[in-house]
Amino acid sequence: MRIAMIGGGYVGLVSAACFAAFGAEVAVVEADPPKLAALRAGRMPIYEPGLDELIAKGTADGLLSFGDDIAAAVQGAEAVFIAVGTPTRRGDGHADLTYVYAAVQQIAQVLGDYAVIVTKSTVPVGTGRRIAAIVRELRPELAFDVASNPEFLREGSAIGDFMRPDRVVIGCESERARDVLARLYAPIEALPAPVVFTGIETAELIKYAANSFLAMKVTFINEMADLCERLGADVREVAHSIGLDARIGPRFLQPGPGFGGSCFPKDTLALVRIAQEAAAPSRLIEAVVAVNDARKAGMAGRIVTALGGSVRGRKIAILGLTYKADTDDMRDSPAIPIVARLAEDGAKLQVYDPEGMEQARPLLPDNLAWCQNAREACAGVDAVVVVTEWQEFRDLSPADLRSAMAGTLVIDLRNIYDPQAMRDAGLLYRGIGQG
Ligand code: UDX
Repeated sequence: MRIAMIGGGYVGLVSAACFAAFGAEVAVVEADPPKLAALRAGRMPIYEPGLDELIAKGTADGLLSFGDDIAAAVQGAEAVFIAVGTPTRRGDGHADLTYVYAAVQQIAQVLGDYAVIVTKSTVPVGTGRRIAAIVRELRPELAFDVASNPEFLREGSAIGDFMRPDRVVIGCESERARDVLARLYAPIEALPAPVVFTGIETAELIKYAANSFLAMKVTFINEMADLCERLGADVREVAHSIGLDARIGPRFLQPGPGFGGSCFPKDTLALVRIAQEAAAPSRLIEAVVAVNDARKAGMAGRIVTALGGSVRGRKIAILGLTYKADTDDMRDSPAIPIVARLAEDGAKLQVYDPEGMEQARPLLPDNLAWCQNAREACAGVDAVVVVTEWQEFRDLSPADLRSAMAGTLVIDLRNIYDPQAMRDAGLLYRGIGQG
């Protein structure tokens, strides 16, 4: 089976590589010349564990190709996936669909035989139907269908999420489209994961609903963490115990400095706008957005307080800059407001991230010491702040920290360390939600 993937970004690349691993012939279209050249040379524009190997294999097997010509890519394709970016539009929180509609116009002009045009990018509810109208207007004679196939992959474990999903959601309205997509996803059907067929609007909404629910779960446990700190309770035990209730489940109950990344901030905001415009406002998700924004903005204040009310002239190590571990993505990372405020207040910051330094540089102030590794970042500091839960930081022993630091304060915004072991080593340990 031949398919085209428009957009060689995060979702496009992972999906293309995995579909090729399923045995499909995938032509990826990437419009950005440097990115295309890198992909053709086997260099990944993003850091995602296992992606380079999978792409190399797909290319070597003759199943995966990269180009900039949409006409050539859609030739003979039974499905054309749109996986271009949908950033938050400036000013109003809506998803910006400029790239989606530009891709649709191009696809409509070059499609020959029947194909299913599938959105994999997260798009507002109603986009699928608008895409169908655009194509119909440009090519009234063309046989085609439109489908929505939202992607639920997490950065850092994207390939596993794609290959072994909890479910695949496909919104489409014709038997023909259903048949094409069912054949494409046939290898998944061998797994217990259900392929759920829905209407197009439903599939589009499922993506926002899933991300908003998970963002709500994280925000809930973050609020419980604050409460635990006031009440002398321990959020780790609260999370563990409520998570044992099968109705709640243990995942996405890890408190932290607030959620970031490419999806949660953008998708919660978009759902708020979609719901407002549909005259069915989601006050719950509005609160999630507001609570999370306030949390990220307030994190630096905790660090200042823990250091006695002023950080002027104090040396602080910042361990981790990306919004979570196993990615180089800095989008909406809690590290951005934390570092900005501490630097502004006169702290001397020694920062380090295993993968995110290059992406972080343009987003952070100039007067930082950029370190080569965690130990160098911790050398001679008054306090260590763990912002991202990288394994490399988990591997630091209390003795490692104690011997590298000048002071003793460890502020662990991800609860990666054992508090007792820290205290035993003579460190002053502050986790999240450990009253
Ligand atoms: C998310 C969704 O999980 C995925 O299905 C969707 O396709 C894209 O958005 P991702 O952004 O890669 O994936 O990361 P995820 O692991 O979901 O974490 C999102 C944010 O929540 C991160 O900032 C993370 O640090 C935070 N988080 C997550 C917590 O603070 N606690 C948790 O328990 C889980």
